[in-house]
Amino acid sequence: KKTILSGIQPSGKLHIGNYFGAIRQHIAMQEEGEAFYFIANYHSLTSLNDGEKLRENTIDVTLDYLALGLDPKKATFFAQSDVPQVTELAWILGTLTPVSLMEKGVSYKDKIAAGLSPNIGLFTYPILQAADILIYHSDIVPVGEDQKQNIEITRDLAGKFNYAYEGEYLKIPEEHIVKSVAVVPGIDGRKMSKSYDNTINIFAEGKQLKKRVMSIETDSTPLDDPKDPENDNVFALIKLFADKEKQDEIAEKYRAGGYGYGHAKKELLGMIEDYFGEAREKRREMAKDLDYVHDVLREGGKKARERAEEVMEPIREVAGIVNHR
Ligand code: TYM
Repeated sequence: KKTILSGIQPSGKLHIGNYFGAIRQHIAMQEEGEAFYFIANYHSLTSLNDGEKLRENTIDVTLDYLALGLDPKKATFFAQSDVPQVTELAWILGTLTPVSLMEKGVSYKDKIAAGLSPNIGLFTYPILQAADILIYHSDIVPVGEDQKQNIEITRDLAGKFNYAYEGEYLKIPEEHIVKSVAVVPGIDGRKMSKSYDNTINIFAEGKQLKKRVMSIETDSTPLDDPKDPENDNVFALIKLFADKEKQDEIAEKYRAGGYGYGHAKKELLGMIEDYFGEAREKRREMAKDLDYVHDVLREGGKKARERAEEVMEPIREVAGIVNHR
């Protein structure tokens, strides 16, 4: 069985870019292999310094996943910080990482450009991510396009370790990116991202959701004129929710004219409400019993730690890190 692994930062509310780009694949793949999914709370510290908020977000993300269909009997779900072997391996990998490799980090540059403080944690972020992946001997890492370079760096660092210590200590992983949803656009047409404030959140509802959908940016083609669906932010999002038949039907209305962006937005709003309706109900129910959520994280952490220790032990051994306890 292949080992599937992925992580998500608890740095705010999850959005439909996270869902279609990653979470949906995570949930589908729990049926296919041995799945490990975790909350990257150490990574979030690079942009969030509020303990109470981070703790709250950690529970929120767990509830989100459970409501969206994660089955803790099939997939191991846990918090990154419950596996100390990860930070241990990250340090060791860091000693083999050229500074120049980190300087090429696109995600680092993007985050600085978006206004985050250029701290060392942000700079070495990909090393911790490599450790996340390598510590479980992961085969496949389902992610969105923006994580591609981080997985490449992971392969690079695994190779450097294996070369330095002359053995197959770390397994070389592959990313799994679904082309049609590799970059889900936000309400302004750029990649949907919390740092651009252009998200539609998975569990937004009522007025809040409506306001967000209504503020999707469109061009100023008059209502009666024909419109090009392939060149519109509303249609780009409709495509995520509608089957082929429904997409064609709406595209036809665009091209015919007399169908305005306001109509398209209403249609999209209904689709979002239907699509996540069941998950929303489930989440509301689950939020009443947080003991279960804590149990899931505790059990998941235990399983992940055991697996991580199996990989870590020979690494300590070959690197000459002796345990004197
Ligand atoms: P994060 O928390 O930013 O995003 C979680 C997942 O959602 C995907 N994603 C998108 N996909 C398509 N279109 C979008 N607009 C979009 N926005 C987000 C991301 O690609 C990601 O798969 N560095 C990671 C967290 C991480 C991780 C790991 C992932 C830490 N360690 C190990 C995999 C393996 C991150 O910041 O994801």
